[in-house]
Amino acid sequence: MRVAEVAGPPTELIFGDWYPALRTSELREGKTAKAMLLGVPLLLGRKTGGKLFAMRDLCPHRGIPLSAGWFDGETVTCKYHGWRFEPCSGQCKEIPSLTSHETLDPTKIYASAFPCEERDGFAWVYVPSPGTGRVGEALPPVPEVPKFSAKFRSAHLVAELPCNVDHGIIGLMDPAHGPFVHQAWWWRSRASIHEKTKHFEPLNDDENNGRNAGFRMSSHAPSANSAPYKLLGVYGEPITTTIDFVLPNRRYETIRAGEKWFASLTTVTPITPSSCRIDVMAAWNVFYHVPFVTSIATFFGARFVRQDQQTMVEQAEGLRFNPGLMLIDDADKPAKWYFALKQARLKGTGEHPLTGPVTLHWRS
Ligand code: FES
Ligand SMILES: [Fe+2]
Repeated sequence: MRVAEVAGPPTELIFGDWYPALRTSELREGKTAKAMLLGVPLLLGRKTGGKLFAMRDLCPHRGIPLSAGWFDGETVTCKYHGWRFEPCSGQCKEIPSLTSHETLDPTKIYASAFPCEERDGFAWVYVPSPGTGRVGEALPPVPEVPKFSAKFRSAHLVAELPCNVDHGIIGLMDPAHGPFVHQAWWWRSRASIHEKTKHFEPLNDDENNGRNAGFRMSSHAPSANSAPYKLLGVYGEPITTTIDFVLPNRRYETIRAGEKWFASLTTVTPITPSSCRIDVMAAWNVFYHVPFVTSIATFFGARFVRQDQQTMVEQAEGLRFNPGLMLIDDADKPAKWYFALKQARLKGTGEHPLTGPVTLHWRS
């Protein structure tokens, strides 16, 4: 689906963290591709030998996009005056116009290059705050889908959203839209709405000074004759499911029953201050030997994501008029926590909206 080009209201962004830029299948050796994260234009590529890189797609000399130039598998050459850069460090290797009469040392000049790592088939880029200079060594770990066995299958879904990242994230954690947006005969109907009780606890991330703080929803084990047991093909094994939200934009869902597991990492990534993209990365070992299960799962998962996307495209139409918005108890409580966590991170206060376990009730 092509997303409408009308920009809704912008929001403040969290710099200084890892974001997924694009699928690494688009980056074969010696190739480059463009991407945008947090309003920063990027040139990504893969050097001969396999190493990924991510540069700000602007030449430090006169600002022409480096993507207009050439990449030979080792260095990126600017199209305008031929300055040549090592793309992992950004270090300039050559300024062709220099003569022996000049003392300028090209290797003292750097284009902006960002840490770039491959996980779950994605190029993750660490996007520092503008003007913080070169990124140091002490970075938080690169996010990835948790895995609980050596063999597993995986899938990926993507959807662009024409709204800012806050709406994408609170849409992701919103429990009350399910029966309306995701109606389907094979899933559920509106009539299936019933009261739910969910338990939450704070996640503090003390190791990283609270930068990836969040909260966990831990569910009770479903009753032994319920659909999850049948789906997982395990009877009597305890099922544990947890859903974690952590800053700046990640939702981890883990379902485990004995040896069987399903896990996903869903991210809502700011492309610009007023647009974002949802990526779902999933891995599982349930149904490992069933043929076509990846394409079936991807089909149904894609339908889900499309329903969310369609709804947010419609919402973006309304948001253009800057309406006042509401957050109610208890169904919108997680959204309130998200906004509080985000403010704490932006201001560096380290405050957490949850001081201990909380139980919420809603009908969905
Ligand atoms: S603008 Fe890139 S070398 Fe001059
Ligand atoms: Fe949804």
